[in-house]
Amino acid sequence: TGYITFDPGFKNTGVTKSSITYLDGEEGILRYRGYSIEELADKASFLEVAYLLIHEELPTQAQLDAFSADIQSYTQVNQDLLKISEGFPVSSHPMCTIAALVGAMSAFYSTDEAGDDEKSVLRLLAQLPVMATWSYKKSIGEGIIQPDTTVDYCSTFLQMMFAKPGEKYTADAVVSKALNKLLILHADHEQNCSTSTVRLVGSSHANLFASISAGINALWGPLHGGANQEVIEMLEAIKADGGDTDKYIAMAKDKNSGFRLMGFGHRVYKNFDPRAKIIKKAADDVLKALGVNDPVLAIAARLEAAALSDEYFVARKLYPNVDFYSGIIYRALGIPTNMFTVMFAIGRLPGWIAQWKEMRVNKEPIGRPRQIYTGATSRAFVEIAQR
Ligand code: CMC
Repeated sequence: TGYITFDPGFKNTGVTKSSITYLDGEEGILRYRGYSIEELADKASFLEVAYLLIHEELPTQAQLDAFSADIQSYTQVNQDLLKISEGFPVSSHPMCTIAALVGAMSAFYSTDEAGDDEKSVLRLLAQLPVMATWSYKKSIGEGIIQPDTTVDYCSTFLQMMFAKPGEKYTADAVVSKALNKLLILHADHEQNCSTSTVRLVGSSHANLFASISAGINALWGPLHGGANQEVIEMLEAIKADGGDTDKYIAMAKDKNSGFRLMGFGHRVYKNFDPRAKIIKKAADDVLKALGVNDPVLAIAARLEAAALSDEYFVARKLYPNVDFYSGIIYRALGIPTNMFTVMFAIGRLPGWIAQWKEMRVNKEPIGRPRQIYTGATSRAFVEIAQR
């Protein structure tokens, strides 16, 4: 095997130099371009953070206004993409639909090979939330709602989700603010599975839409973004089973059970996930403000307390991650469970774009990992009649 380093899962391989996100897993620090996640989540708007990630600096008011207006000017999705969306079965998981639609965007819109196609960037930011609402509307048998370009990014999304056709709709400020915070918390997370996928696909000079579509598929898996849906389903299952959290903790510790405590553990954070801290507080605030009493919240709190004091979880440094409480908020906001991971994708989009651009601008080489071969050594071919 010579000089090849064996590192399955890239646990200890730095594959790129990046100036986008700083993450210290021991101290629980997360910063976008040097700004703390706590401050950004508290004070910024999602589009401000998107601008920061993609354009490297926080925007001035004039720059932000121009960026928002540019995005709004691209919200009209090609009607043939809508037809494609309508061809998906009602039962299709919305992650499958949006990955396909984003991939299909390159059939409709020109793409630039240079890595700085501003129009593709604006189209994606404008159209992913629009397309994300289509399958929901279809699933509840309602017509789609056109985006209202007079309101902010989060409120437009909420309006497309929840307005009834022909009805005037104003997004609840608490809901809009909570969504803004959640999207910011998900906006980038350095070289995670989906982001590395976006960079790897883009490293062959595949276009931005193709690369982001691959990222959406990578995010879908239950060990990555798909965990937020799995967490709520797990909490519901525990509730339906009488709320016996100890039984599920025991199952998670049993390697033969095939069960993992969803929303726990992280490849990089080994003391706490700073996003989880912010989300837990936001969940409390949002549920209170909306007057929602979600019985799974108590189950979540019991699981967390039990896991944090249990030797198995302590020894392996398994803490609640960003996905443990996010589903509880999404549900309180009225987002259906099968769309939780779609919300993650909408939040992560600026990060994927920034990472893809950085990779192209820095002229990174094509990604091509090596392997340790473990198969048969040289064998003589046997004619089919002799096998
Ligand atoms: N429940 C029970 N045991 C676990 C869990 C869990 N959730 N997570 C890890 N372990 C155990 C694992 O069995 C292993 O034990 P041992 O050392 O005895 O073999 C040890 O902890 C280390 O786990 P690992 O699988 O080697 O760690 P990893 O870095 O490869 O995986 C992870 C990280 C996030 C995939 C994993 O912790 C997991 O599957 N968590 C549940 C799914 C989840 O919540 N994913 C969302 C991650 S945060 C959002 C995002 O960025 O995607």
